[in-house]
Amino acid sequence: MVANGKDVVWEAGDANERLAAYDDAASRTMDPELSVEDLGIDRSLRPKRLEEYIGQERVKENLRVLIEASLKRGGTLDHILFSGPPGLGKTTLASVVANELDVSLRATSGPAIERAGDLAALLTNLEPGDILFIDEIHRLNRAVEEVLYPAMEDCFLDIVIGKGPAARSLRLDLAPFTLIGATTRTGLLTGPLRDRFGMAFRLDYYSTEELAQIVVRSAQKLDVSIDSDGALEIASRSRGTPRLANRLLKRVRDFAEVRAQGYIDAQVASEALSFFEVDEIGLDVMDVKILTLLADTFAGKPVGLSTLASALGEDPGTLEDVYEPFLLQRGLISRTAKGRVATKRAFDHLGIPYPL
Ligand code: ADE
Repeated sequence: MVANGKDVVWEAGDANERLAAYDDAASRTMDPELSVEDLGIDRSLRPKRLEEYIGQERVKENLRVLIEASLKRGGTLDHILFSGPPGLGKTTLASVVANELDVSLRATSGPAIERAGDLAALLTNLEPGDILFIDEIHRLNRAVEEVLYPAMEDCFLDIVIGKGPAARSLRLDLAPFTLIGATTRTGLLTGPLRDRFGMAFRLDYYSTEELAQIVVRSAQKLDVSIDSDGALEIASRSRGTPRLANRLLKRVRDFAEVRAQGYIDAQVASEALSFFEVDEIGLDVMDVKILTLLADTFAGKPVGLSTLASALGEDPGTLEDVYEPFLLQRGLISRTAKGRVATKRAFDHLGIPYPL
C-alpha cells in the first residue's frame, strides 16, 4: 500500500489466483522448501518506489525519465517490456512504476489468460492510465495475442458475438492504458508483439555490492542483526539474484537464532550457507548435479538439453530458464551447436582434471 497513492490492485478473482499460484510456483522452483510465510515475506520486502530500488541503474534512469515525462504531459506511459532471468525484479519494477505514476496495477500472467474473452474482460475493466502487467508474456496463446495488438496500438477491441451466420463483430473502445510485459525468454516473443512495446529493458544480474545493500535493507525490515561482512557473505552466494539473497538471509537468520544468538557475521553466514548446501560461489545441489553430469558422467562431451533434463529428472524449460542462465553467465557451461558443455572453470571448481 502506498502513501498518497492508489493501492496496487492485484487483479481479483480467478486470474489473480492463477497468478499467485504461478508466482509461487516460480519462486518454489528456486527453493522447493519455501513456506507460505516465506512467500508473503518475499512480497513485503519488495521496494515500492524507485528511490528504494537498489541496482539496475540504467533501467531506473530510463524509467525515471519516462515517468517524469508522462506525469508532465499528463499522458499514458508507453508500453514496456522487461526481460531477464527469474528473480531479478521484473514484477517489482512494474509495481514501482504504478506507484510512481499513482495508478492501479492489474496483474496477470500469459498462461492464466486462456481465451480472448479473458483478456477482453481484463482490458475493459481498466481505468484511464492503469497498468496491465502480464508476466511470462511469451506464453500467451496466439488468439489472445491477436486481441492485444489493436488494444496496444489503438485502444480498441474487436470481439465476435455469436456463432455461425448470426455471428457479428463488435468494436469496443478502451481507456488508454500501459501494458507492462515481463519475460524470461525474449527470443520466444513474436515479432509483432515485440514491435508494439515502446521500450524494452533487459535486467542484468546484480553485483555482490548491490546484493549486500539489498540484504542489509531486508535485514532491517525483518529486524535481523547482521554486520556488513555477514551481508557480503550472503550476497556473494546469491547468484546475482535479489530473490535468492532474501531467501538465503531468512535461512541464515534461522541458523543464527539457533546457533549464534541471532547475530549474523561472516562466519555465521558462511557456516549456515555450507549447512544449507550453498557453496562459495552460490551453487546449490542442483547446479552441482548439472556440472557433475556434464564434467564427470558425460566426460566433458556436449550433451543435448533434453538428454540433460531427463538425466536430472527436471523439466527442460526449467533447466533452460532457471538454472542455465547463471551457469552460462559465470562461464561454467557453454552452449555449442552439439549441446551443453562443462567449461574448464567447471572442472576446476569441481576438482576434476580437465580432459582436453
Ligand atoms: N528487494 C528485492 N529486490 C530489491 C531491490 N532491487 N532493491 C531493494 N530491495 C529489494
